[in-house]
Amino acid sequence: MFSQSLIKKFESLETPFYYYDMEILENNLKCLKKITSELGYHVHYALKANANPPVLTRIADFGFGADCVSGNEILRALECGFSPEKIVLAGVGKKDSEIALALKHNILCINCESIQELQIINKLASRQQKTAPVALRVNPDLEAGTHRYITTGLNENKFGINFKDLESVSGMLSELNHIRIIGLHTHIGSQILNLEVFRNLALRINDIQNWFQERNITFEHLNLGGGLGVNYQNPDENILPDYQKYFELISSNLNARDRQQVHFELGRSMVAQCGALISRVLYVKKGLNRKFAIIDAGMTELIRPALYNAYHKIENLTSSGPLEMYDVVGPVCESSDFLGKKIALKGVRRGDILAIRTTGAYAEVMSSGYNLRDRAPAIYSDQL
Ligand SMILES: Cc1ncc(COP(=O)(O)O)c(C=O)c1O
Repeated sequence: MFSQSLIKKFESLETPFYYYDMEILENNLKCLKKITSELGYHVHYALKANANPPVLTRIADFGFGADCVSGNEILRALECGFSPEKIVLAGVGKKDSEIALALKHNILCINCESIQELQIINKLASRQQKTAPVALRVNPDLEAGTHRYITTGLNENKFGINFKDLESVSGMLSELNHIRIIGLHTHIGSQILNLEVFRNLALRINDIQNWFQERNITFEHLNLGGGLGVNYQNPDENILPDYQKYFELISSNLNARDRQQVHFELGRSMVAQCGALISRVLYVKKGLNRKFAIIDAGMTELIRPALYNAYHKIENLTSSGPLEMYDVVGPVCESSDFLGKKIALKGVRRGDILAIRTTGAYAEVMSSGYNLRDRAPAIYSDQL
């Protein structure tokens, strides 16, 4: 990912910053486009993973749709060229103003997560004298086998309509005159590497669809959400996710009806590998039984290690010394402010440049200004 001339350039820049390799992004999108076009599948990119305009513009140029979870994400998607009829609005706690905005812009559909939300969407649509296109997000009560903080499809999670409420939902739909049900939606979690989970999801959706069909409720589309994981351990060997296997597994297990569309909301798998957080070593400190590489990026730029104990590969780009073990930590006044523990790095000195890999997704979007720190800028390979 990093040529010697690129590393030289990094050395001349103020750190920390997020570096985005637009060629990696482009190759990912090409591969995704090819496979999904062959299968006739529709992808709405989940803006929550990375909402930077140059990234979004590139994704929109490929003709993908957008999956938004706030009014501001809808506005950003529109600004970056996504067409409204390819935008969906998801989220367990949509504000009335966000639902109204979605209706005003005539987006493809609102993914609805509760009985009460159905009633509110109906009321807000009637105010605009519209019929709201809605997909029902059903909680499939399915184990995703991922970190519990990013598991969303179990009964204990706040997301989606539970099975126990489905009878009430199906009974009330005929009274909601300003709602048109067009889709069935699920999303069971993120960073899912065991693809068997998606087979189970497809089979569960078949059951849910049959259940609705028995009650004369049909769907124009099925939306399986996102969740496909990426390889944080060996990014260079796995720069592309296994789209082929993933989509083929879905296609051979999902019982889509004739002319029924199949939609996805991928986020992480599309953008994670194109990003790296670039940081400079401030100090090397010898503790009692460990060495700390204290760098100028921290949990403010990448909160995933602190939040989920997530692993990111870290490389020392400017050293050729022998490997030594370090805890790579940030400058923030919290002991949870680490980027990696017991990481083997080529001998670290003050001023070395480190790359924290696979930070294209859920890194910059989750950054904060804690400790009144400056926001790290984004640098794009095609603008250097
Ligand atoms: C409803 C919904 N759709 C899609 C996604 C994107 O998931 P991922 O980035 O794992 O593909 C998420 C993320 O958690 C989500 O909550």
